[in-house]
Amino acid sequence: IPVDPFDLVVFGATGDLANRKILPGLYRRFFAGQIPEGARIIGAARTEMDTAAFRAHARAAIDEHVGAGKRDAAQIEAFLGILEYVPIDAMGEGGWTTLKALVRPQLINAFYFSVAPALFGPLAERLHAFGIAAAEARIVVEKPFGRDLASAKALNATLAEHFDETQIYRIDHYLGKETVQNLMAVRFANILFEPLWNAQFVDHVQITVAETVGVGGRGSYYDKSGAMRDMVQNHLMQLLCLIAMEPPYHFDPDAVRDEKLKVIRALQPVLAADIVRGQYLAHRSDDGKGHQPGYLEDAENPDSRTESYIALRVHVANWRWKGTPFYLRTGKRLRARTSEIAITFKEPPHSIFDEADETWRENVLVIRLQPNEGMNLKMMIKEPGPGGMRLVQVPLDMSFAEALGEDGADIPDAYERLIMDVIRGNQTLFMRGDEVEAAWAWTDPIIEGWTARGDRPQGYDAGSSGPEDALMLMHRDGRRWREIRE
Ligand code: BG6
Repeated sequence: IPVDPFDLVVFGATGDLANRKILPGLYRRFFAGQIPEGARIIGAARTEMDTAAFRAHARAAIDEHVGAGKRDAAQIEAFLGILEYVPIDAMGEGGWTTLKALVRPQLINAFYFSVAPALFGPLAERLHAFGIAAAEARIVVEKPFGRDLASAKALNATLAEHFDETQIYRIDHYLGKETVQNLMAVRFANILFEPLWNAQFVDHVQITVAETVGVGGRGSYYDKSGAMRDMVQNHLMQLLCLIAMEPPYHFDPDAVRDEKLKVIRALQPVLAADIVRGQYLAHRSDDGKGHQPGYLEDAENPDSRTESYIALRVHVANWRWKGTPFYLRTGKRLRARTSEIAITFKEPPHSIFDEADETWRENVLVIRLQPNEGMNLKMMIKEPGPGGMRLVQVPLDMSFAEALGEDGADIPDAYERLIMDVIRGNQTLFMRGDEVEAAWAWTDPIIEGWTARGDRPQGYDAGSSGPEDALMLMHRDGRRWREIRE
């Protein structure tokens, strides 16, 4: 869908996110022909530099983060031509009148706050005070959106002083992932799954977001956060919502977000026995020479009790899901980088086959977020051959890239999609203020619980599937985690 010309101001334009995601993403959309004639991207940051220097900076970011197939010299040159730069003092007065002169109020105005949350308020205030943001202007804010309910409420209140909720785009980049949206398509554009999508037919759901990276380099941020705040309160929560929610009456931002909110509100408090937290241990290579630091070293805090891994058993207390547990887990330095949702269905009520128990397998629908986005439905069929009626489980496997040919191979990165949605004025894939608050309201007592108990995370080996106790979390229910592998 084509978009109208816009002025997009990126605050924090020299920062890490702008460098890795925002600038390369915008270039890719430009390359795809989606940035209209007359659009402008204005970088703003504290660093004193001119537009030429910023363009050189953006060129370096593109060279580093855009695949060779899309790095066309003429296109890059043309893209750099729509960039401007204004040095700005977020907490002071410097640069704001220059910015005002650049932003054209008759166009779509979007302001991306790719800065520390402490600056959200001051930026919103100054955009307002200097009369820069047009009436319909949009602001985009990054996570972390608060670190508990109180701080999230305060942030919402500050933003609300200057902008209406319809102007605020809170990013959770997981919502921009191709498969995440596909989840809604699969659920609500097919008749096949929805009748079975409830506690009567679903045994349990597993949501896994496993990473191989550690927290080295960002230890000081991470140690104040941990996996619960960094991943569960936002990314895994959003995945859970899309799986568990009722069909919205329309694919419309508030209709979708209303349904997600109901899921968050239906989440039960989590018992201490249903939580396993871990920290990855240091790793020494077999020859004893290589050393990979453990969490405590990466976090530069030898006494840290912050988790780099968490597994939880969660219950959604409503008619649809009563009795179906949702097992969530996420962690750093695990065996493979993989994110998936697995929905395990119950066994048929009665078997007409003389199957030995060990060959029988339940149907499992696996939705792969990354890598190799796709879906896989495990089904029982007859084993081919003359050996009588013997059953075997086989996957109906679909990789989006293969199924959709060239279009599938060109799946845009989450940030590209989300930024274009901001320009289009579509809030469906952004979190509403009440959603974020409800998510914190559920998260806070969980964190307060382990803090009060003085729980220590369990060590786990780098490159493993996480702490031993996490296995028990499922074993004691007679279930098993899926293997973590690419
Ligand atoms: C971020 C977290 O929000 O998501 C990081 O702060 C995490 O800790 C990242 O590594 C994972 O995103 P992705 O898209 O690589 O799965």
